[in-house]
This record gives sequence, structure tokens and C-alpha cells, in this order.
Amino acid sequence: MAKQPKTEYPPSAEYLKRAHIDSYEKYKKAYDRSIKDPEGFWGELADELDWYSKGWDKVFHWDKKECRFTWFKGGKLNVSYNCLDRHVKNGLKNTAALIFEADEPDQSRTYTYAQLLYEVQRFANVLKSKGVKRGDRVAVYLPMIPELAICLLACARIGAIHSVVFSGFSTDSLYNRVVDCGARVLVTSDGGFRGGRHIDIKGKVNEMLERETDVETVIVVKRTGTDIVMEEDRDVWWDDEMAKASPVCPCEEMDAEDTLFLLYTSGSTGKPKGVVHTQAGYLLGAMLTFRHAFDYRPGDIYWCTADIGWITGHSYILYGPLAEGATTLMFEGVPNYPDNGRMWEIVEKWKVDVFYTAPTAIRMMRKTGDEWILKHDLTSLKVLGSVGEPIDPDVWRWYYEVVGGGRCPISDTYWQTETGSHIILPLPGAYPQKPGSAMKPFFGIEPTLINEDGSPTKTGEQGRLVLKKPWPSCARTVWNDHQMYRQTYWEVYPGYYFTGDGARMDEDGDIWITGRVDDVISVAGHRIGAAEVEAALISHKSVAEAAVVPIPDEIKGEAIYTFVTLKQGFEESEELVKELITHVRKEVGPIATPKTIQVVDELPKTRSGKIVRRILRKIAGGGDGKDLDTSALVDPNVIGALVKGRK
Ligand code: WT7
Repeated sequence: MAKQPKTEYPPSAEYLKRAHIDSYEKYKKAYDRSIKDPEGFWGELADELDWYSKGWDKVFHWDKKECRFTWFKGGKLNVSYNCLDRHVKNGLKNTAALIFEADEPDQSRTYTYAQLLYEVQRFANVLKSKGVKRGDRVAVYLPMIPELAICLLACARIGAIHSVVFSGFSTDSLYNRVVDCGARVLVTSDGGFRGGRHIDIKGKVNEMLERETDVETVIVVKRTGTDIVMEEDRDVWWDDEMAKASPVCPCEEMDAEDTLFLLYTSGSTGKPKGVVHTQAGYLLGAMLTFRHAFDYRPGDIYWCTADIGWITGHSYILYGPLAEGATTLMFEGVPNYPDNGRMWEIVEKWKVDVFYTAPTAIRMMRKTGDEWILKHDLTSLKVLGSVGEPIDPDVWRWYYEVVGGGRCPISDTYWQTETGSHIILPLPGAYPQKPGSAMKPFFGIEPTLINEDGSPTKTGEQGRLVLKKPWPSCARTVWNDHQMYRQTYWEVYPGYYFTGDGARMDEDGDIWITGRVDDVISVAGHRIGAAEVEAALISHKSVAEAAVVPIPDEIKGEAIYTFVTLKQGFEESEELVKELITHVRKEVGPIATPKTIQVVDELPKTRSGKIVRRILRKIAGGGDGKDLDTSALVDPNVIGALVKGRK
């Protein structure tokens, strides 16, 4: 008989020595208090931050009707002070804050806390010299280089709101985000390096700025030295400005509830939402979850492989680790350059203790072969992390055995751009882990599973994951669109925050995330709104209608499958399909590249004209169309042609 795989993985006695919370009882006691007495609980934890004044009347205030809430409002602090100055004062000045590992293996740079503070103050003064004031938005379109971290901390220092646009996004995506937030200053670079290749950045910025925006100043980091066009009066070089700037810049005293940053993310509408995070609650959430998810201990080297262009990079490369006084590693390159062993070469080189990555990367590494891992000494690793999508139990076991040497617990951290920090995650030392489960809620989080109609699900049944009450790092609003915020998160199931994800809870109360229940597709852990891709397709002259659905993908988790109908006068051809793919890449970005485009005569629709995506999902996924419930369709006969034409 085949051996049943192990289903529970308790932490070892060795691991427990580093665990901040080393028993279920300790977790449960703190958790229960966080739910029964959130104000007392978080009010005490607020001491983990340094404040100019703790002038709040109420730790938490919630106006349910308006879907507005505050944490520590009236308290004054500065995020950059909490990430830098206080550590420099408290004995960490000579400790590595940021290790930059470049695309080329032999180039790296390390910033101690004192050095990082020095650079951040200078750049804060550069921003001031360009007229940036408290509350102004600064758009940031930079590759993974230290200047990106310096820039964000400098914004935080002077109270400016940063809005990072992932450097892989297209000109159009950049344009929409820059215009929506009304940034007058944009920080970018000439280009970037990835896998030994040059990536164009400034060219895309120039193209974007041919259109009307509020941008008056562009600050350009020289990374590649490529020949680029600099516009006089508008574009300046980072280095020239830094050379003129004073290294002393006092911190702005910010209210706990002032906005720290915007980060755009995709949802079920065609337009990305500028998710708004504030100062204190966000920082506290990022710092505490960072500490507990990875049991970070002073002296550890911590590496999160995300890009700072996403929330994972904001919270777990930058703010969480630095608030905790940790050493955070930032990697510019890709896993397969110069060879498939690059990640492990980095772990071995820096003796990385904590390694945090995404299932899509883990699946890729598994496919590449164990020999790349076995070549390197990974015994420094103590704890592993996973984020971005559900991790398959088999992949989990492989990660545990081969990368972690059967020694390292895995923190499968579930959260979202909007939640600011982890909300469901295993505390690695507190209880045994189950491969594939994100396990239990973090402090202050009350998860509930409900059916589509709002009724509670039974144990083990899949439902929609909702959370009872706001927690400190929860997004406060959507930039310029509070209505959208209300409708998307708090009004779908009144009184609850709706995550958009499905999940089930087992008999032990452990949570298994099953994926999005809305029209959001997760490609390599990146959220892509079906509506955004549809809007891009429809903007092409040949397309009449488009419907975009996910299909399973071995490495990326999901891939994009699109159905389109053409306008009169256009015919299906290989060139046209290629053109449509290029068009989507240009409009949204390469991450949204459709895997398949199926041109059809007609889409399945209801009597009221709504496209029935549920059916298209099944067809795209390989169904024969026989078991479909087509009763809602005007014309069930369209199914046959769709199945027949499947690519
Ligand atoms: C969506 C949020 C913040 C993490 C990076 C992506 C999915 C995230 C997990 C996990 C299962 C996960 C959800 C969520 N997701 N982590 N550990 N297990 N699913 O941030 O772009 O805001 O996407 O990613 O579907 O809603 P994001």
C-alpha cells in the first residue's frame, strides 16, 4: 500500500528556541484578547512604535454607516523615524539594514541603518527642493534598486504620499495611475537590468508624458547608463540632485491616520483602485506580522523575493522588516540568471535565515530540478514563507523537504493589498502546520465563511471569506472613490469586510483558501482584473465583445483565456490574434498577456444580455459542454461552437 503523506508538521525542538510564540495556548490567549478587547490589545501594542505624542482619545473609532474607521487618530509619529532613526539611536547604526544583490552576481551593496538614514535624509531634501510637501503624491516607477527603498522612506519622512507603479507595467497603466493620483513629481530610472538584459524604463516614461499629466519634475536614477532622452526643465538626474542636498532632514510629525501611500490594484471593474494605507496602523501591522510570521531574531538575514512594486514588497521588504530593525535583502534579478541556481547561490552567499517567496516561483524551481538546490549549502535557512496564491500540498512538501531540508516551518501567509499585512497565517512555532492551509487568523482578525446569500457555511464547506471588523492595517479608502471602497469591501455583505476569496474551515478551525470568487485572475500570483483585459481588448478596432476567464496553468497557477467576437469587416487570422496579444501587453502590461485568444461568432448570454462567464470558464478549462446548466441562456446552441473552436 502506498504510504500516506504526512498531514501535520510540528515545529522541531530546535525551532522552538527562536519562536516568539511557542505554544498554541500562548497564541490563543493573545488572540482571544485581541477579539474581546481590541482597544486594550492594540493600545498596548502601540508602544512598539515611537510616537511624538500618543494623543488619541479612542484607539479605534468606527463609523459603520460611512464605512470609515480610524486607529490611534490624534497620535503623532513618523514612519521613516520608526524605520531608521530610532534604530540608529538604539545601537543598530552599524547593522545592515538593506542588502542589495544586483542582477549580476558579483555586484552587491550593503547599507547600514546609519547609511540608509543618511541617503534617505538627502533624498527627502531633494524632494523638498522640487516643491514636494506633506500630502503631495510622488509617483515612483523604478526597478528593484536601493534608490526605490530610499525614495519611499524619504516620502514618508516628509509626509508625502508615495504611489509606486510596478516597473513592468506598460505606458498606459503608468499613465492611468499617475493621472489618478495627481502626482507632480515622478521618480524613475534610465532603465533596469533583469537576467542580463536591459529593460527600458525612461522611454516608457517619455512616451507617457507626451500626454497631459500633472507631472512637472522627473528625477532619474542612472542605473544602466543607456542613452536616453532627458527633457530640459523637466528631467533631472538623481545623483546631481543628491550631490547638492543636505544630509539633515527633520521628520514631519504625521497623524496616525494621515495617508502613507497609495497602491493600485485590480478588482472586478475595468479601472484599478488606488488603495489607501495610513501611517500607524499599517506600520504596526506590517512590523508585528513580520516578526511573528518568520520569528525574526536580531542578526537574521531575511529575504523576500517580491518586487517593491507590489504590496508584498512594501510591507515585507521595506516597512515591516525595517520597523523591526531587521536586515532585509533586495534582489534585482531573476531566478534563472546566470543559471538556475541563482536563488540558492544568494541564500548560500548571504547565509539567509528567512526566505519568503511565491508558489509560482516554488513550482518553477521544483520543475527545474533538485540538483540546482542540492549544489548549494542552504543550512542557514530557518523558516520559509509562501505568499500570493494557495500552495498545493505536494509543492508545499517539496519546498519543506528539498529547500528547507525538513527543518524549516513554512509560513503560508494569506493577505491582500487591501489588508496591508498578513491576516491568516501559521505561527511557525505555535502549532503543527498542514500543507496547503494558511491555518489561523492573526490578532484582531475574525474570519467567517458564508454562502453567497450571506448564510453561514457548515464545517468543511467552501464559502466566501469575510472578516468581522476593521483591523489596524486595513485600507481606509480608495483614492478619490470612497463609494467604490464601500461597495467593494463593506457593502457586499453588510457589516463584514469581503475579501473576494473563497475558503473552507476544517474541523480544527484551520482555514484553507481556495482562490478568488470574483472576476479576478491570479497569474503567477499577480492580480489581474478580467474586466481590465476585456476593456483593453475592446479598445482594439477589431473587437466587438470580449470575455476573459482563468484557466489552470502548471507554473503560473492561472493563465488568461479570452473569447472575442469581431466587428463587421474583420476576420480571424493568425496576425490578428498576435496583434490583439500585443495590444493587451501594451495597454495593461506583459503580466496580462493572454495565453489563448479564441475568436467566436457569439458569446453565451442571458436574456438581459449579460455574458455568462461561469460557462466560459468551464469551456476554456476543457469541459465538453454537456454538463453545463444552460437554462439562463438566450441561445444554448452557441455552446457547441464554443467547445468545437476551443484552442
Ligand atoms: C490575493 C491578493 C498580498 C499578497 C500578494 C498578492 C491571493 C494571497 C495567498 C495565500 C492563498 C493567497 C488571494 C488574495 N493570496 N496570499 N497565502 N494563499 N491565496 O496581493 O495582489 O493584493 O492579491 O492573492 O486571492 O485575495 P494581491
